[in-house]
Amino acid sequence: MGWSCVVARAVALFLMLSRASALTSDIFAAGKSDKEILDNLLKNSRYDKRLLPPVDGVLTVNVSVLLLSLASPDESSLKYEVEFLLQQQWYDPRLRYSNQSHYDFLNAIHHHEDIWLPDTYFIMHGDFKDPIIPMHFALRIYRNGTINYLMRRHLILSCQGRLNIFPFDDPLCSFALESISYEQSAITYVWKNDEDTLRKSPSLTTLNAYLIQNQTIPCPIKASWRGNYSCLKVDLIFTRDRSFYFTTVFIPGIILVTSSFITFWLEWNAVPARVMIGVTTMLNFFTTSNGFRSTLPVVSNLTAMNVWDGVCMCFIYASLLEFVCVNYVGRKRPLHNVVYRPGENPVTQRLPAVLSRIGIILASPLGDKKRESTGAAELVSCTACTGPGACTHTANNGGVAEPCFVQVRKKEPPHPIRVAKTIDVIARITFPTAYAVFLIFFFIHYKAFS
Ligand SMILES: *[C@@H]1O[C@H](CO)[C@@H](O)[C@H](O)[C@H]1NC(C)=O
Ligand SMILES: *[C@@H]1O[C@H](CO)[C@@H](O)[C@H](O)[C@H]1NC(C)=O
Ligand SMILES: *[C@@H]1O[C@H](CO)[C@@H](O)[C@H](O)[C@H]1NC(C)=O
Ligand SMILES: *[C@@H]1O[C@H](CO)[C@@H](O)[C@H](O)[C@H]1NC(C)=O
Ligand SMILES: *[C@@H]1O[C@H](CO)[C@@H](O)[C@H](O)[C@H]1NC(C)=O
Repeated sequence: MGWSCVVARAVALFLMLSRASALTSDIFAAGKSDKEILDNLLKNSRYDKRLLPPVDGVLTVNVSVLLLSLASPDESSLKYEVEFLLQQQWYDPRLRYSNQSHYDFLNAIHHHEDIWLPDTYFIMHGDFKDPIIPMHFALRIYRNGTINYLMRRHLILSCQGRLNIFPFDDPLCSFALESISYEQSAITYVWKNDEDTLRKSPSLTTLNAYLIQNQTIPCPIKASWRGNYSCLKVDLIFTRDRSFYFTTVFIPGIILVTSSFITFWLEWNAVPARVMIGVTTMLNFFTTSNGFRSTLPVVSNLTAMNVWDGVCMCFIYASLLEFVCVNYVGRKRPLHNVVYRPGENPVTQRLPAVLSRIGIILASPLGDKKRESTGAAELVSCTACTGPGACTHTANNGGVAEPCFVQVRKKEPPHPIRVAKTIDVIARITFPTAYAVFLIFFFIHYKAFS
């Protein structure tokens, strides 16, 4: 009784063992598909997907990013769409099958649900654009137990631009990867091969997005409020298409402002022409700037654009006001009903005077001396006249100094029309000069050409 029982048990054990060995050799048999091999590898008795891969120490996940496409919905937007392949690689010794199978790797796409996968999530501002293609990942298991998990992601990132220097800013877009539940002591993310740059796909397409710089770094803040989580960060720095803004905003603005300066070269009393130039350029500028503004993000701190619009409008409006002043001054009645002689060209008459006055102001000590000396000369000539014997003809007339004062030419107030023309002449120089200074300052200060 006892013997038969022992023998039966031994036979049963032997049968079980032989079946088990047959099973392990069977699963790598030549005709088996990789799906069948995986079915066996991932059997509940062998594999528990809830457990971290049993590696010595920390599980390292090697990450790399391959850019597929970059896009921005419109030129002035701060939203950028980034499409990329995220590759994660880690080592799971339970899935190692060495050289027992002829497969170089097992395609585990249909066992996605049964394999332990890192719970990577994205830290970012923005949104996910869901892949339209249902299969947007690939999962491969290599002989040595390395698992390669490839995932296509399409993110809509809200980026940080310095809108106060818009449109000369370079928006910075960043996103980070982190494990949502495993701390640094369980999972560490590293950039694959210590690559410190992003790779780009040979077919990388960009639409309205100009990537100028990129970096892949570990997250700068070591201990976030969540604790010690391993985290990797991608920074993408874009730039805006400067030539677009020059052709749509700055060059039209410069043309309108300089067109408004044409008015200084017209007759002081050419009312229809000068009013038309002033009003047309002003309205046109408002239209252009409003049209452009409507395409901008609704934000408040567009300092550079406000400076540009404000100063240009000021110049156009000031040139219109200058015409009003000139016309008003020119229509004033002259004091002694003097007739204006148009032959007196104010440009040739006034320009040397204006220039010499500027010269005197610039070299003030010299100018003071000159003024003193000329004053002294006048005084000397007069005193010389009063002196006996010096001005013989006046002395002969009775020794009175009276004719001497008659000789000093009395200065008349200038004719109003001449004043008006002089204002125009001054405006011809000052307005373009001031505008040129503004342009230089503006484009240097906002680093438009860097
Ligand atoms: C991850 O990368 C390191 C080198 O950076 C390499 O030694 C290691 O084998 C890689 N691990 C996997 C699973 O590919
Ligand atoms: C499989 O690997 C073992 C060592 O791990 C080696 O001895 C054996 O020859 C290999 N078999 C084949 C078919 O490559
Ligand atoms: C495992 O095999 C893959 C593919 O053959 C290889 O790229 C990888 O470096 C290997 N990993 C290790 C840790 O040897
Ligand atoms: C990232 O920058 C490096 C140089 O810093 C460059 O070689 C690489 O091509 C850039 N990657 C992309 C996707 O532009
Ligand atoms: C984070 O890790 C450091 C050392 O690695 C440890 O001193 C600290 O207590 C950890 N913090 C948390 C919140 O686990």
